[in-house]
Amino acid sequence: MRLDKYLCESTPLTRSQAKKVISQGRVKSGDQVVRSCAYKATADESIYLDDNLISVRGLRYIMINKPKDFICSNVDEQLPSLFNLIDAQKKEQLFIAGRLDADTTGLALITDDGQWSHKVTSPRNKCKKRYRVELNSAITEEAIEQLKVGVQLNSEPQPCLPATVEVITETEVILTISEGKYHQVKRMFAAVGNLVIELHREQIGDIILDANLELGEWRYLTESEVQSIG
Ligand code: URA
Repeated sequence: MRLDKYLCESTPLTRSQAKKVISQGRVKSGDQVVRSCAYKATADESIYLDDNLISVRGLRYIMINKPKDFICSNVDEQLPSLFNLIDAQKKEQLFIAGRLDADTTGLALITDDGQWSHKVTSPRNKCKKRYRVELNSAITEEAIEQLKVGVQLNSEPQPCLPATVEVITETEVILTISEGKYHQVKRMFAAVGNLVIELHREQIGDIILDANLELGEWRYLTESEVQSIG
């Protein structure tokens, strides 16, 4: 994280005050004065302001392999919340960056960093989401073409952005989309006359679901996974 941001997150300083104390040479990494606001401070580094050690409020970034019949909500409803599977402090501060339906499995990202979550979910960022889709009937050439061009969903003003489609078998495809409309994948296939019977998210941006995570298991993201969302 940039040094000026690090200072803002771990002290009462505003961004401009943080920049000022950095340029005044009052901030050290270990025993080295750092004068660049863009300096990347890492989680395992000791940062001092006026020789006082400060520690960053740890933002948390989690991936979970979501099983079926858990909901992407902070509270239980008819089905249990996905947060029942996560053993972390202050779970009420965490939220899901890009929900999955109760019957969808696979990669869900959880964080308490609103800006980061916005980058994952905002349509402007066009962050790619890759799904493995099992279909009720064989996919047709015409359907593939429509998905690639951008299908028109019911009650949406604009067609979907072009998707990429990789055919595995005639009833199994990999679909990559860069939006996150409500029930988007199911609605896209309904719009081309098919029906999704299994849906699994494998990837968001460059973050790939860890193959070591069984359904229901989770882990913190690595620094490079966090930084890959940009
Ligand atoms: N699209 C859907 O239809 N459902 C999901 O859970 C995710 C994407």
